[in-house]
Amino acid sequence: MVDLSTTYMGLRLNNPLIVSSCGLTQTVEGVRRCAEAGAGAVILKSIFEEQIEIDADSFSAGTGTQAWHPEAEEYIGRFGREERIELYLRLIREAKKEVSIPIIASVHCVTAGKWTEFASRVEEAGADGLELNAFVLPSDPRLDAKASDKIYFDAKSEYEFFKGFRRLLEGRAAILISHRFSTVRMADRIFVFEDGRITESGAHDQLIRLNGKYAHLFEKQAQHYR
Ligand SMILES: Cc1cc2nc3c(=O)[nH]c(=O)nc-3n(C[C@H](O)[C@H](O)[C@H](O)COP(=O)(O)O)c2cc1C
Repeated sequence: MVDLSTTYMGLRLNNPLIVSSCGLTQTVEGVRRCAEAGAGAVILKSIFEEQIEIDADSFSAGTGTQAWHPEAEEYIGRFGREERIELYLRLIREAKKEVSIPIIASVHCVTAGKWTEFASRVEEAGADGLELNAFVLPSDPRLDAKASDKIYFDAKSEYEFFKGFRRLLEGRAAILISHRFSTVRMADRIFVFEDGRITESGAHDQLIRLNGKYAHLFEKQAQHYR
C-alpha cells in the first residue's frame, strides 16, 4: 500500500486527512468513527468562551438568582462555566484513550486571559495540538463603516486571499474537502462521494457539462449569488 504518512505541526500522521472542527468531532463516539474511517487526525469541535458566558447568564437569569439570591449568583455562574470547560477536557481525555490518532483541540475566546487559560488546560488534558479560532473584529473606532467593510468583509480581499492560497499550493498536492462550492471549484480534480462511493470525477467545467449530481448541487448553491 502507498505510504501516505506525513508530519503536520510536528505531529506524525498516517495520512494527511484531518477532520475539521465540526459536529462529527464533538463526541468520543464521533472521534472514534472518524478514526475508524481512516482520518489522519481530528480537530475537536471548538469550545467557545462567549457561548459559555451566554449560557451561564441565561441560566442564572432563568433561576432568578439575580433577584432573589444575588450571593448565590456568582457561585452558580462559576459552577456552570467550570462544568462546561470540564466537559471539554473530559472529551479530550476520553478521545485520547479511545483512538491513537492525534487529537487537536480548538478554542475560541473573547477575553485575553481565557486564551491562555483554555490553551494550558487543553494541553494538560492531553491534546496533541491546538487550533486557535481567532478572527479580527472591526472594532477600530477611528475607521468609518466603508473602511471597515473594505478590510473585513470585502469580496476583493477574499479573492486576494484565495490567490495567495493558490500560490502557496503551487507545486504541491493538496486535498480540499468542502461543502462550499466556491472552495471546491478551485481544485484541479473534483471527486463526488455518494454513499461512500465516488460517483463523479473531473474538473469543475467537465462536471458542469456532465450535468449530474455536482452540477445540480453547484447550481443550487450558486443561485444565491446570481
Ligand atoms: C456543522 C458545522 C460545525 C462547525 N463547527 C466548527 C467549530 O466549532 N469550530 C471551527 O473552527 N469550525 C467549525 N466548522 C467549520 C469547519 O471546520 C469548516 O467548515 C471546514 O473546515 C471548511 O469546510 P467548508 O469550506 O465546507 O466550510 C463547522 C462547520 C460545520 C459545517
